[in-house]
Amino acid sequence: MRIGIFGGTFNPPHVGHRAAAETAARALRLDRLFVIPAAIPPHKALPENTAQPADRLVMTKAAFSGMERTEVLDIELKRGGSSYTVDTVDELRSAYPDAEIFLLMGTDMFVTLKNWREADRLIGMVTPAVFSRGENDDAEIAEYAAELRKSHGVSARIVRNDVIEISSTELRSELADRGGIEYLDGVVYSYIISHRLYGSRPDFRWLREQAYSMLKPKRVAHVRGCEKEAVRLAARWGADEDNAREAAILHDITKKLTMDEQLRLCEKYGIINDNVELANLKLLHAKTGAAVARDMFGVPDEVYDAIRWHTTGRAGMALLEKVVYLADYIEPTRDFEGLDALRRLCYESIDDAMILGLRMSVDDIKSYGEEPHKRTLEAMEYLLRAKEGS
Ligand SMILES: [Fe+2]
Ligand SMILES: [Fe+2]
Repeated sequence: MRIGIFGGTFNPPHVGHRAAAETAARALRLDRLFVIPAAIPPHKALPENTAQPADRLVMTKAAFSGMERTEVLDIELKRGGSSYTVDTVDELRSAYPDAEIFLLMGTDMFVTLKNWREADRLIGMVTPAVFSRGENDDAEIAEYAAELRKSHGVSARIVRNDVIEISSTELRSELADRGGIEYLDGVVYSYIISHRLYGSRPDFRWLREQAYSMLKPKRVAHVRGCEKEAVRLAARWGADEDNAREAAILHDITKKLTMDEQLRLCEKYGIINDNVELANLKLLHAKTGAAVARDMFGVPDEVYDAIRWHTTGRAGMALLEKVVYLADYIEPTRDFEGLDALRRLCYESIDDAMILGLRMSVDDIKSYGEEPHKRTLEAMEYLLRAKEGS
C-alpha cells in the first residue's frame, strides 16, 4: 500500500494545493492520500491573522472534497502544539505498518529535512516526495537527494508540478483587497467571506451573483439601480462607498420569501417581531435580510444596520442607513409622483430628503388603510426635532 502525507498550514487551502496533491497522487500511484493541516508549524511562525484551527480544517476538507482516495485528517490539530511530522508519521505507521509512506513537500522544506525533529528516525520511515517547479529545483533536489542517499540510504522522489503561482501570504492580502477568488474553491471562498477571515472583503461580482440568485428576476434591475444610486449618494455625502455597495447589493436578498419562510428565518436568527411586522411581509424582509447578509456574507455592523433599517427607518439613523434608505427609494427604475423632487433633494440635503421620503412612505401606507410602523414615525420626529434644534 502506498500512502501519501501532505501537510501544511492550509491558511487558506487554495487551488495550488489541490493541483499539487492531484499531481503527486498520480505520479506516486498513491492508494491513499492524507492531507493534514498543522496546528503550529515548527519551522515558521503563523501570521497574525491566521484562521482558527477549526476554520482551517473546514476549509481544507472543502478544498479537497471529491478527490479520490484522499482524506483530510485532524490528527495534528487534535494533538495541538507544534506539529512535528515524526509524531504524525508514527501515528500513521502504527495504523498502516506495511505501507510505503511518501512525505510530500516543497523544495524549501526538503533541504531542511535533516534539521527536523528526530530527523534520522523520520527519514528512516518515509520516502520524501519533493515538488519541483522546473530545472532549477531539480538540480537543487538532486544534489540534496544524493547526500540523503549516502547518509540514510533513502531515495527521494521528484514530483514535477507546474505550480499555480500563488502563495498563501499573497492570497491573504488579495482577499483583503476584494480579490483572490480565482485561487479558491467556491465553498472555501464562501466560508472565508462569511467569516471574513483574513480581513477579507467580498469580490463584488461574486457578491452580485450570489445576491441576484436569491431575487425574483424582475427585482434584479431594482437592486442594480439601488447599488448605483447608493454609491452615488455615498460619494455625495461622504459615506463609505464600499459599504454602501455591499448593503445595496444585499438589501433585498430575502424579499421573495413567503411569510412562512420569513418566520422560519426569524426563528433561526432569534428575531422577535411586533404585531405590525407580523402582519406585514414587507417589514420582515429587512430584518431577515440583515441577518442572512451577516450569516452568509459576514457583513460588518454598519452594513447590517443599513439593511436592517432600509424599510422602516429609525430614530437616529447613521449616514449609511440614510444612503441605503434613499437609494432604495429613488433608484433609476423607480417611477412615482413626486420622485423628481425627492431625487433633487437627496443631493441637496440628505436629512430633508429623509424627512420627505419618510413622509411619502407614511402617506403611501395610510392610503392603503394600513398603519405606518412606529419606527418610521420616530425616524421622522427625530429628524424634524434635529432640524428645529439646528
Ligand atoms: Fe427592501
Ligand atoms: Fe429594495
